[in-house]
Amino acid sequence: MSVLEVQNLCYDYVQRYGVTHALKGVNGVFESGKLYALTGRSGSGKSTLLSLLAGFDRPKAGKITLDGEDISTVKPSLYRKEKVGMIFQAYNLIPHLTAVENVLLGAGGKKSRLPSEAQAILRSMGLEEAHFRKKPSHLSGGEQQRVAIARALASDACIILADEPTGNLDSDTGSMVVEILKDLAHRLGKCVILVTHSEEIASEADVRYRMSDGILV
Ligand SMILES: Nc1ncnc2c1ncn2[C@@H]1O[C@H](COP(=O)(O)OP(=O)(O)O)[C@@H](O)[C@H]1O
Ligand SMILES: [Mg+2]
Repeated sequence: MSVLEVQNLCYDYVQRYGVTHALKGVNGVFESGKLYALTGRSGSGKSTLLSLLAGFDRPKAGKITLDGEDISTVKPSLYRKEKVGMIFQAYNLIPHLTAVENVLLGAGGKKSRLPSEAQAILRSMGLEEAHFRKKPSHLSGGEQQRVAIARALASDACIILADEPTGNLDSDTGSMVVEILKDLAHRLGKCVILVTHSEEIASEADVRYRMSDGILV
């Protein structure tokens, strides 16, 4: 079982015209096997927290540990490739690659996967065979998000971070995506952190956190 722990995390955006204190001492614990919902107003720091958890940037103060180990001691590219899978509102698939190729890309350099494995992951996401060789523009929003989730799973990451993954989907399709994310936590034992504006979706989570002005409450 993995535990991701955040201690007194602080992060600033420094720009020419001023500094934004986006995270002001965030504390929290995220365990494998659970779905976490993160809600909060726009600008409260949700995406910033996710990008630090994903290893895209270093905190100004405080630390993030995975199973007791400070993630800043791990090479950022390795941490991102092997430990974390990310899912976004806009899917962020590579437009000129097929569904299968997009999933293969998620497996990263070293742990390369076979096309048959990528297909198996897509199948487990409920994507129909007929869509495997299609490019994202030929897939519906819900299908693109399934491909994006498959891509996040391709590296065997233990942490899945989803930043408003249902934001562009109708409510039925959104519910389906949340069911998939819940399944990743409960059946595959992933630690899934889901940012959402929807109360209904947040109520599906095992644990709820709310971000308020750079603090987790
Ligand atoms: N790249 C950036 N440069 C400067 N300020 C930013 C940047 N990204 C976010 N911010 C600011 O940091 C704060 C937190 O933003 P964000 O983490 O995106 O919040 P949320 O995801 O909850 O809407 C906001 O005040 C936002 O304006
Ligand atoms: Mg955001």
